[in-house]
Amino acid sequence: MALAIRFHDQRQGPHESSLRNEVLAGFSAEQKWLSPKFFYDQRGSELFERICEQPEYYPTRTEEAILARAAQDIATLAGRDANLVELGSGASQKVRLLLEAMHPASYLGIDISKDFLLTSTHRLATDYPWLEVHAACADFSKTMQLPKGFDGRHPLAFFPGSSIGNFTPPQALAFLTNLHGLLPPGGALLIGVDLVKNKAVLEAAYNDKAGVTAEFNLHLLERIHDELDCDLDPQSFSHHAFFNECESRIEMHLVSQTSQDVTIEGQRFHFAAGESLHTENSYKYTAAGFCELATHAGFRPVALWTDPAALFSVHFLRRE
Ligand code: AVJ
Repeated sequence: MALAIRFHDQRQGPHESSLRNEVLAGFSAEQKWLSPKFFYDQRGSELFERICEQPEYYPTRTEEAILARAAQDIATLAGRDANLVELGSGASQKVRLLLEAMHPASYLGIDISKDFLLTSTHRLATDYPWLEVHAACADFSKTMQLPKGFDGRHPLAFFPGSSIGNFTPPQALAFLTNLHGLLPPGGALLIGVDLVKNKAVLEAAYNDKAGVTAEFNLHLLERIHDELDCDLDPQSFSHHAFFNECESRIEMHLVSQTSQDVTIEGQRFHFAAGESLHTENSYKYTAAGFCELATHAGFRPVALWTDPAALFSVHFLRRE
């Protein structure tokens, strides 16, 4: 029998209004943009899981291999009976690589997509009956708080997948500083960070042959189409992803194929032919560069693991 999971709703109000407000603000900017957090409704979260299975998308597979190999070391560093808190837990697959080795006192998954979160954490509770499982629905880019009790027994925050790459470096610093403030001394952060590498390898990962990343990107427009009052035609845009070397980031855009006006919630927006909506940044770091950033946020780099090809890194950072 599945054990009950404990659910903490930390949403700040209806999602729809925030999609609406952010679309109206982002589409009014000189460079039109929208936060990548809106990718992750149920369908978007499923599409992301499919991206992770694409042969060109190396981060997931590589990070999993690193975690499997480092699990015992991580368990030793984390200590017994830690409280494991996963940020952006999604399908909660990676954490399975740590559970047996770590045997944490509890697990808390935090994700923006409620139904996906509940399904994933239920599965975890079923598969690990000895584990106390909590789920919190929250937009951790905005509000970050740990439910009561989680700041007690040395918590280990787990932020896999290089999701930190969605923040600009100053935002990443602010995020890490905020997280540092939430963790008690002796707490720690285990974080996956994608590394700078050959441009062709990077660009292939965001332009998979099967077109799943394109579908994922275009799904944003389908959400806007379905959830807001508008006449936007998702089919009139196309996926574009490239590595911006100066900024050390992959950029994803949706490019308007025609000159067109779009009306959303009564507001009109013009797209020139070839004009883009910027939907995601995915920053790539050097291992040393990321350690420096974490140090600025008050963390002490304690251990670092990479794969033989140095595609990806996993950092264990102690909160001082
Ligand atoms: C979840 C932000 C780590 O940047 O690689 C994958 C999202 N976007 N393919 C990434 C993503 C397109 C992913 N992160």
